[in-house]
Amino acid sequence: MVQASRPMVLGNLPRSVLGEGPIWLPESNTLYWVDILGDRVHSYRLIDGHVGTINIGPYPSCVMPNEDGNLVVTVKDRVLLVNPHNGSVLRVLATVNEPPSNRFNDCKCDPEGRLVAGTMDMNEKNPTGSVYVVDPGFGLRKIMGSVTISNGIAWSQDGSSMYYIDSPTRRVTVLRYNRREGVVEGVIKHIDLSSYPGVPDGMTIDSEGYLWIALYGGGKVLRVNPVDGEVTGQVEVPAQYTTSCTFGGSSLTTLFITTATDRSRQTTGPDGYVFSVEAGVRGTMVSKCRF
Ligand code: BGC
Ligand code: CA
Repeated sequence: MVQASRPMVLGNLPRSVLGEGPIWLPESNTLYWVDILGDRVHSYRLIDGHVGTINIGPYPSCVMPNEDGNLVVTVKDRVLLVNPHNGSVLRVLATVNEPPSNRFNDCKCDPEGRLVAGTMDMNEKNPTGSVYVVDPGFGLRKIMGSVTISNGIAWSQDGSSMYYIDSPTRRVTVLRYNRREGVVEGVIKHIDLSSYPGVPDGMTIDSEGYLWIALYGGGKVLRVNPVDGEVTGQVEVPAQYTTSCTFGGSSLTTLFITTATDRSRQTTGPDGYVFSVEAGVRGTMVSKCRF
């Protein structure tokens, strides 16, 4: 059982309506995250507390680094390459053709630098969403269909398994992933989390191969062994809508957790802020996109 400390609200940062998708960039000591319903991409440089905010239009749902220091950002139905300093759009990398009530949601770069990004029904009811791969130089491919709220994505260290969450199923699906081709080759198993409160949302993976999964509505992050589904740790967060997490800090042992408000914007508690906690285990770094 990994012993984590108590999560604390991080710095003096903006509150998000729907804070999501934290990523850590070690070269600049900076945490990035999005506020999907506040239309903002935020950053926080840990060494000096510098906060940056860029606005690139409605529904920025996920941000990932590329190899040149720019950001790949998914917005409603597009994947953009963005200048992190001023938010200007350098290139439209892909556009999806989806119902108007859909939008992009979580994304991640696979170990080969492709972007894998899912979509969701904004009414959170119908399985009209999909998961896409954007290959550098080759455009867009759909790798999964019939998902309702495409959410957490992570890979095993060797890239042979992809972990995937469609939130209303309340489970994590372990998929066989062909890293050379960037395709999913079948379901290995499902890990059922329906006995826990809320629904699984964003996730990351630590250096021991365990998943850290935020429970939206459950106010916690679970540490789960994907081999046998055992829950080996829990971080209780004093905010109900925990959305996602990532490892960072100088030794990669700090877990940053994003949260959302209940969307009324009338909240008085710490929900909508980013929390940090010493996880007691080292994380892994996100792969960069090769765009
Ligand atoms: C989505 C939210 C959704 C939540 C729980 C998030 O990733 O952006 O709209 O309510 O997951 O499923
Ligand atoms: Ca999410």
